Amino acid sequence: MGKIRLGVNIDHVATVRNARGEIYPSPLRASLLAQKEGADSITIHLREDRRHINESDLKKIKSRLKIPLNLEIAATKEMQKIALKNKPPFICIVPEKRQEITTEGGLNLKFKTKFIKKLIHKLKKNNSRVSLFVEPSLKDIKMSKDLKADCVEIHTGRFCNFVNKKKNYKKELIRIKKAIALGNKLGLEVHAGHGLTYKSAKILSKVPGIKEFNIGHFLIGESIFVGLRKTIKEFKKIIKQ
Ligand code: PXP
Repeated sequence: MGKIRLGVNIDHVATVRNARGEIYPSPLRASLLAQKEGADSITIHLREDRRHINESDLKKIKSRLKIPLNLEIAATKEMQKIALKNKPPFICIVPEKRQEITTEGGLNLKFKTKFIKKLIHKLKKNNSRVSLFVEPSLKDIKMSKDLKADCVEIHTGRFCNFVNKKKNYKKELIRIKKAIALGNKLGLEVHAGHGLTYKSAKILSKVPGIKEFNIGHFLIGESIFVGLRKTIKEFKKIIKQ
């Protein structure tokens, strides 16, 4: 199995900062520390409501980072403009609903299909690698290929919920395995993310065909107790297996 990359999502460092309208903790500092401790890329989600990172964070992080920056954006004109201007090396297109607590599901590729297709084309021409955040659905994987995405990131939220609640996750794991296999067969680079903990990442790291994990909420939470260094090292050890 080739090396699996670890993308560290630092959005929730900004969430803590914004909770008090302060200038700390710094998402830039967290990004640079994560880079030093072995992160392979840094992920940030610029949401319409700017509830975590903002454009100033994006600019600062992009200008200082040596590893690739992965910018998550919704398929909107506003985000298209920001992404084209800032040229992050990696972009992941995600669904976004204002009221949701987090990204609740994969993209609905039947909605705004033409816009998404054009967006992918423009971003790729602008030298960004483009990924689509999708459910582990064979239809969505096929459609991602038709839309000419470079990668798919499979939404692992449902699977992780089952693992956390000690429920039977076998069926969902089979769905994910089939989606990964099809993605690889079609020549898409396959990533996985959402809700991952040490336990769920360990299970998924044994499935062949995943090239990148993007992990945020649990990783930042765990860092409160043991630090970013130890948490990143532990995840790197787990996903290497
Ligand atoms: N991947 C994508 C596309 C996401 O939208 C998110 C959440 O912002 C993550 C990964 C990380 O999820 P979590 O914070 O639950 O680890």
